[in-house]
Amino acid sequence: MRQYSTVIIGMGRMGKTRYQAMKKHGGFCVTAICDNNVELLSNYSENIYTDWKQCIDIESPEVVVVCTINAVIPDVVCYAIEKGCQVFAEKPPGKSLQDALRMKNCADQYKNRILKFGFNHRYHNSVIEAKSLIDSGFLGEVVAARGVYGKAGDLSKNEWRNDIELAGGGILLDQGIHMLDLLRYFVGDFTEINGFTDKLVWKESVGEDTAFATMKTERGQVATLHSSAIQWKHKFDVDIICTNGYIALNGLITSTKSYGEERITYYKKDLEQKSGKLGNPTEYTLCFDEDFSWDYEMEEFYDAVCGNGVVENGTVEDAVAVMELIDRVYRN
Ligand SMILES: NC(=O)c1ccc[n+]([C@@H]2O[C@H](COP(=O)([O-])OP(=O)(O)OC[C@H]3O[C@@H](n4cnc5c(N)ncnc54)[C@H](O)[C@@H]3O)[C@@H](O)[C@H]2O)c1
Repeated sequence: MRQYSTVIIGMGRMGKTRYQAMKKHGGFCVTAICDNNVELLSNYSENIYTDWKQCIDIESPEVVVVCTINAVIPDVVCYAIEKGCQVFAEKPPGKSLQDALRMKNCADQYKNRILKFGFNHRYHNSVIEAKSLIDSGFLGEVVAARGVYGKAGDLSKNEWRNDIELAGGGILLDQGIHMLDLLRYFVGDFTEINGFTDKLVWKESVGEDTAFATMKTERGQVATLHSSAIQWKHKFDVDIICTNGYIALNGLITSTKSYGEERITYYKKDLEQKSGKLGNPTEYTLCFDEDFSWDYEMEEFYDAVCGNGVVENGTVEDAVAVMELIDRVYRN
């Protein structure tokens, strides 16, 4: 297997997660890691840097993985692309729509570069099952969807997410973005969006603790989103209503296990009561207890880098589209 020389910029929680996934994959040779907090770089055998530009200049890697805080992502992405690297960057694609557009403009100038963003939720097992069920047409057309994604936020001062200059937004940009991306993935491109954000409990926070949005595609399909930092017991729920049936995703396997078991349930509508249960048709449920999303995501990135595939998920177009939706809700 061809190994690509790789550096990882930002070695906090996600940097470590991506490091492990890249090692496990085997197609990436991590030569260096970088973080401006040098304490995070002990216990690694790779070269270490505290300055990301130096890291890219000296290592001249083929691949750059960007796991810094939101405010730093666009500068590193654009610099790495200009230096000829293939780039994987964490979501959100910067702090704002302008940041996402800046990265798209840069990528558009270098057509032979790969740029992929870490919308890893698309690679969760229940999401993969739901997408293939939708694409099979077994349940008819998707006409509506509801997504709820929430966690218990906090106001700790040493968390960059609580600094608007570093984060760019509140729970909608931080976590709700994953649900928005999934709703686009399941339903389609939304051309209309109405929504608002609020601080319902965390009044002193710089970003919103709550966001609601209603969206519509050109074909008239509708979706709603509730993103929350005051969901005291963590929750991940998606309902997908199709012309001939229904899909529900409940729970999500993550490292904290706080979103509960990951399940997909589906049924076909049964108005002639063949099952004998009007309004309560026979349901089929699959449960998952492992999260392979980081591995599947790296596989797709690797295939794109070595020219055996394309970036299908987390494209720069996906990144801009989802940031446009968020921008419209924030501007409300
Ligand atoms: N895909 C997902 O599901 C997912 C989950 C969590 C976080 N994220 C995203 O990953 C990114 C990192 O989040 P995290 O949870 O790992 O945060 P974190 O605070 O654990 O890690 C961020 C790291 O970036 C470093 N950093 C900041 N500025 C830097 C600079 N100029 N140069 C080098 N390093 C710098 C910090 O020192 C820190 O170690 C964020 O954009 C976040 O939104 C994605």
